[in-house]
Amino acid sequence: MAARPDDLEIVPRRPEFAIYEAMRHRRYWLQDDPVLTHFINALQALFPEGERFFIDSARDVRDQVGEENLSEQLRADLQDFIRQEAWHGREHEVWIEALEELGYTRLGESMARMKKQREWAREHISAINRLAMTAASEHLTASIARLLLEKRPDLLDGADRPMRDLLAWHALEETEHKSVCFDLYQAAGGGYVRRCLALVIEWADLFYQTHTRHRYLLRKDGLWNWRTRLRVLRDIWGPRGVAGAVLPYALGYFKPGFHPWQTDERAAFKAKYGDLIEALSES
Ligand SMILES: [Fe+2]
Ligand SMILES: [Fe+2]
Repeated sequence: MAARPDDLEIVPRRPEFAIYEAMRHRRYWLQDDPVLTHFINALQALFPEGERFFIDSARDVRDQVGEENLSEQLRADLQDFIRQEAWHGREHEVWIEALEELGYTRLGESMARMKKQREWAREHISAINRLAMTAASEHLTASIARLLLEKRPDLLDGADRPMRDLLAWHALEETEHKSVCFDLYQAAGGGYVRRCLALVIEWADLFYQTHTRHRYLLRKDGLWNWRTRLRVLRDIWGPRGVAGAVLPYALGYFKPGFHPWQTDERAAFKAKYGDLIEALSES
């Protein structure tokens, strides 16, 4: 089984992006395409609360297991993971505020609902179950990062800046910390069946949450007609769409000996976005 590479650095960067100005300039900032643009907008709307859920779960399991029972490396990685996710949540919130400014006000309301659900989950779902969900979600975000690198670079390269930069930064950091919650889950004694069930739940939840927001954004623009519905089916959720392309990566999680570092995308990221990464590291 693969494990965390010895030379891995999880670097919490602190970039800031002027999203609103860019979106006001061009509402359909991804290839001038409302279906693709609003799909990515819908995904972003899940991140702030989702990432807080991940942080809570990791902290709660760490505290239950006891820091002294975790390796020094994993303790350090957890700190860096939390720092990275906290900043992601902040920048994705800026993204949602920009969309609210543009008139998509229901996204803010749905964030408030997600906050309540997160608080409910913390009280009613055990920490190890929440961490299983987190590890599964982290696999999905790492899979999306891989998709942007390998199969659908057009989703980054066709995006206006600074949205492209934000997406590339997030994808890189999701890659860097992709095994932290998985390793913590294993260190806490989490097993195979639970983590697989968690992936099924998280995949279904991601589908539902993204699709409802996607539909809302398109409907708000008066674009939710049969033509758009067919495109959403074909280009997003169908076997040849974005989700169809992520699926093979996602399914790797069901292999009993799976570990996130069985694939390593860091060199490919550096080759393509080396300059951007350097600039962000300095900011
Ligand atoms: Fe993140
Ligand atoms: Fe993450």
